[in-house]
Amino acid sequence: MADLKSLKATKFIPMLADRQKRFDSSAAMLPPGSDQARVLARALHPKRQYLKVANVIDRGQDCKSFELVADETRGTKSLAYFGAGKYLTVFETIDGMSITRAYSISSSPKDSLEGKYVLTIKLVEGGLMSRYILDNWTVGTPVEVSAPSGNFEYQPLRDAKKVICLAGGSGITPFISMANAIADGDEDFEMTLLYGSRNYDNILFKDELDELVKKCDKIKVVHVLSDKIEGKKPKGTEQGFITAKLIKKYAPKDEEYSVFLCGPQQMYAFVDKELETLGLKKKFIRHEMFGEFHNPASQPDYPSDVPETVSITVTIQDETKTVTGSTGDSVMQILEKNGISVPARCRSGECGFCHSHLLAGKVYVPKNLEYRRMADYVFDCIHPCCSFPLTDLKINVPVAK
Ligand code: FES
Repeated sequence: MADLKSLKATKFIPMLADRQKRFDSSAAMLPPGSDQARVLARALHPKRQYLKVANVIDRGQDCKSFELVADETRGTKSLAYFGAGKYLTVFETIDGMSITRAYSISSSPKDSLEGKYVLTIKLVEGGLMSRYILDNWTVGTPVEVSAPSGNFEYQPLRDAKKVICLAGGSGITPFISMANAIADGDEDFEMTLLYGSRNYDNILFKDELDELVKKCDKIKVVHVLSDKIEGKKPKGTEQGFITAKLIKKYAPKDEEYSVFLCGPQQMYAFVDKELETLGLKKKFIRHEMFGEFHNPASQPDYPSDVPETVSITVTIQDETKTVTGSTGDSVMQILEKNGISVPARCRSGECGFCHSHLLAGKVYVPKNLEYRRMADYVFDCIHPCCSFPLTDLKINVPVAK
């Protein structure tokens, strides 16, 4: 193999002129039919999808499902296909501020081919976007979303054939999509879903889950109810929390299995400790970060002596501003609260869309949101969506796409 260090970059310079000559002498447009790969890539990964609300299902408990269809009048003719477990980033302008939030798609991938996505949104306490959507989206409301994104999907080469899915509250949404995909024959794995709710009346998608279990023997559902159950325990329920003991009870005995988790931050804090005792291979534990991370000071490795407020000097689109905010908020939240919009998709450190340059200061990143590469550390790059300021900062943010 050639010694990379002995290669001289200057050797490639003459090639540039030759390449330019070839560009200049070629046709301005590709011949029709020769760019199928690009057409397919654009269909699967559109920058934006322009949709409208076609139906609203009120699920009670401040939770609604919104059926979204393509809005041809604004240029979207069909919906991008997706793998079960993906999310859409919703773009909204609230009080003049551009806001983004990621929501898992709760419908089956097959539905997207038939022209429909479903987003199920539950009110988050103090949540600006969830409150806005629940109050304002009605039939006909125009909606703007990203292409389906995320990595929380079943990968046959990495994941075990049997999967224990752990859901908490509205963290059920990607699993509804996966269960539908299994029942439709679009995914091939066995799902045992342990779904944590407060009580029997709080279970979201109860009827849909019952139907899916009846329809497909690869799907099993156990409802784990945290409130004390009065009288006889309903069939298919457990009382308490999702513990290692409970996972073991429903996991295959002599076979490998994967564990997929989706739920609120408090659930991860509890379940992650339980999972450590099971000694599973790291690759078999998969998390979907459901919503933004809050309260960094609750983390055991959060430093002491952090000031309550800091200032952030940010350069974006050749404009520099200095704003102040609380160290309990992420850099992205502080900027947004000050009317500065930052490019974002997942808002949980995974997609790299908000990738920015830290010019001065220090940030804290919660361990399970640390997706940066080695080069990011070397060149002082951060993800503002999951970086919490520890000191005054100076940052350079890319232009919003
Ligand atoms: S928005 Fe995805 S990494 Fe920040």
